[in-house]
This record gives sequence, structure tokens and C-alpha cells, in this order.
Amino acid sequence: MSHIIAPSILAADFLHLDRDIEMINNSNAEWLHVDVMDGSFVPNISFGQAIVKAIASKCKKTVDVHLMIDRPELYVSEFKEAGADVITVHAEATNHLHRLIYQIKDTGAKAGVALNPHTPVSSIENVLEDLDLVCLMSVNPGYGGQKFIYQTLAKIKELKKMLIDRNGDAQIEIDGGVGLQNAEKILEAGANVLVAGSSVFKSEDPLLTIDRLMALK
Ligand code: DX5
Ligand code: ZN
Repeated sequence: MSHIIAPSILAADFLHLDRDIEMINNSNAEWLHVDVMDGSFVPNISFGQAIVKAIASKCKKTVDVHLMIDRPELYVSEFKEAGADVITVHAEATNHLHRLIYQIKDTGAKAGVALNPHTPVSSIENVLEDLDLVCLMSVNPGYGGQKFIYQTLAKIKELKKMLIDRNGDAQIEIDGGVGLQNAEKILEAGANVLVAGSSVFKSEDPLLTIDRLMALK
């Protein structure tokens, strides 16, 4: 199965979102990753529904919304209306993950669950078959440009095995510190969606970086 590159708009130039989204539209990236942070679940605040709506209206790629927010159940339908194709919530942000997954699916969006670096993959064992995507955080969420946590590779392998054992077909997305220096190992471990913020937008030639990430086996 070939992999998907999901550049993260968090690392784009917010004064030129129009230009940067156009660049992604013209690239070989299939998804655009959109990080929503509330200053409570994570220490940083990014942007909310209105900005996601503006981004999605311009973006021709799959809009992959990563909600790093408390009480995500209050906002799921608003982000779907804003244009999200995939909505990912954190397992740590709700007591009722199963209900929340179905709330996302009921909107028509694909449902993803993200796990912080300290959260074991076994914590989602009983909802694995219900998921379209599992996002393993390879940094502590809140900021772009952080260093990849290498223990994530073992988590990817464990998750991949769990999916095979249970006939699950969720995508495995890796988020944080992903770039040309480690993408091969991440893919080899079993991931198939690579979020890439700084490594794409801060590179000299973002289109070429996307192609290089795509070309990895
Ligand atoms: C981190 C966000 C990431 C971030 C990745 O909290 O969830 O999606 O944008 O940025 P890089 O690729 O720069 O680590
Ligand atoms: Zn993210």
C-alpha cells in the first residue's frame, strides 16, 4: 500500500495561507493536516472553525482535522460543516470515546483517534475496528518543529500487529517531527500517513520535499 503525505498547515505562512494552500493543491500530497489547539488540552492556541472553513474552501485535498481540544464532542459537527473530511480526536480528551467515534461517523466524516506519546496503543484495543484512522503522536502535541520521539516506532509496530490480528483497516498516521531523516523508518514500521509540518513548509523547496517523501518505500 502506498503512503500519504499530509503537510501540516500549522507550519505555513499565516499571512499567505491562500498561496500555501495553492502550493499544496498543486503538489503530490493527498491530504492537508489542520491542527486545532485550544490552550487547555494543549498549552498552545492555534485557530478555530472559521479559519478551518476558509482553509477547506480553498483546499482540493482531503482535509484532515486534528482536534487537540477538550470536550471535542461539542465541536465535531461544526468542524464537519467547516469542511473536515477526517476528524481526529484525542483519546485522552474524552471519557466516552466509543460514543464520540460514532458521533463523528454520523456527520459523514472519517473518524480518527490520536494518542499522546505516553498513551499505550492497547487503550484503544476495543474501538480499533470502529476507526478509520489512528494518529500516533510522535511529539507532545501543542507545537510544530519538535523532535521525533523514537519510541513511537515500537508503538507503530504494535498497532500494526493489533490491526492485522483484528482485521482492522484503520490508517496509521504519524504526527510530529516527521521528515526525510526518519520517514523511511516510520513507513517500514507500518505507518501509511505522514504528517509533515516544518519539514515541508520550512524547506527550501516544499514541492520537492513532498515528492521525496512520496518516493520513499
Ligand atoms: C503538533 C501538531 C502537529 C504539527 C507537526 O502538536 O499536531 O501536526 O503541526 O509539525 P512538525 O511536522 O513541524 O513536527
Ligand atoms: Zn497534528
